[in-house]
Amino acid sequence: MKIIKNPLQIQKISIELMKKNKSIGLVPTMGALHLGHISLIKKSVSQNDITVVSIYVNPIQFGPNEDYKRYPRPIKDDIEICKKNGVDYLFLPTNETLYDNDFSTYVTVDKLSNMMCGVTRPIHFRGVATIVSKLFNMILPDRAYFGLKDYQQYTVIKQMVKDLNFKIKVIGCPIVREKNGLAMSSRNTYLSQEAKENASNIHKILVNAKKSFNSGKNIFSVIKEAGILLSKIENSEVDYIEARDSNTLQPVQTTSKKVVIAVAVKVQNIRLIDNILC
Ligand code: PAF
Repeated sequence: MKIIKNPLQIQKISIELMKKNKSIGLVPTMGALHLGHISLIKKSVSQNDITVVSIYVNPIQFGPNEDYKRYPRPIKDDIEICKKNGVDYLFLPTNETLYDNDFSTYVTVDKLSNMMCGVTRPIHFRGVATIVSKLFNMILPDRAYFGLKDYQQYTVIKQMVKDLNFKIKVIGCPIVREKNGLAMSSRNTYLSQEAKENASNIHKILVNAKKSFNSGKNIFSVIKEAGILLSKIENSEVDYIEARDSNTLQPVQTTSKKVVIAVAVKVQNIRLIDNILC
C-alpha cells in the first residue's frame, strides 16, 4: 500500500491508472475506521482493480461549535486497517494542500442540504459536497462508496454527481451495527458504555416503527410514537425524526412507496444519526 499526501501526486497516479484502463474505487473517510468503513473498503476491493481510501477530517463541514478539534484521529491504527484490507493507495492530504488561503469555491446542493441534518448543521453538506468534488477530481474514481448510515449525505452526493456530470457510480452500502444494534460511527468512541446501551434503543425503536408502518399503520402516527419513545431514552434529546421518500427525501405522501425513517438524537450530548428503509 502506498501512502500519498500530495493532491497533485495522487492525481498523476490516477491519470496513469486510467490510461492503463484500471478501474478505481474510492472510499472517502474521515478516519477512525471501523467495521462500517471496512465493509466499504471490501466492496471496493471486490469491484475495482485499484482501491483508494482517503482519510481527511474536513474542517469546512464542521460548524463553529462542533467537534472538528476533538474528532478521533487514530492514524496508526487506520493505516494498519487499510493495509490489511487490500487498499492500494491511502490518500492523506493536509489542510494546507487542500485549502489555499484564497480558497473560495464551494459546491452547494440546494434543497437537499437544508432539510433534516441541514437544519441544525447549515454548512455541513456544502462542506461535504465541496470536499467530495475535490476528491473526485483528484482521484478520478469509477465508483465511490458511502455508508447508508449517512443517508442524507448519500442522497446529496448522488444529486451532485448527476447535476455536475461526474462520470462516477455512487454506491451506498448497508449500515453496519454493533451487536446491540447501535449503528457503527467514529463518534461512538465519545460515548460511555452506558450511553452506548441507551443509544442502542434508537435502532430498536426504528425497527418497531418500520414494523408498524409495514403492517398498515399511518406513517404520521408511526413517527409520532417513535419520537416519543426516542425522547424517553435516558440522557437523550431528539433533534429530529422524519419520514421521507427514500429517493427524493421529500416529505412522505400517502402515495409514497419507498420510505426512509431518519433520526438524529443526542445521547449524552453526542449527536447520533440513524435510519431505516421501510
Ligand atoms: O462521511 C464522511 O466520513 C465524510 O462526510 C466524507 C464523505 C468523507 C467527507 O468528508
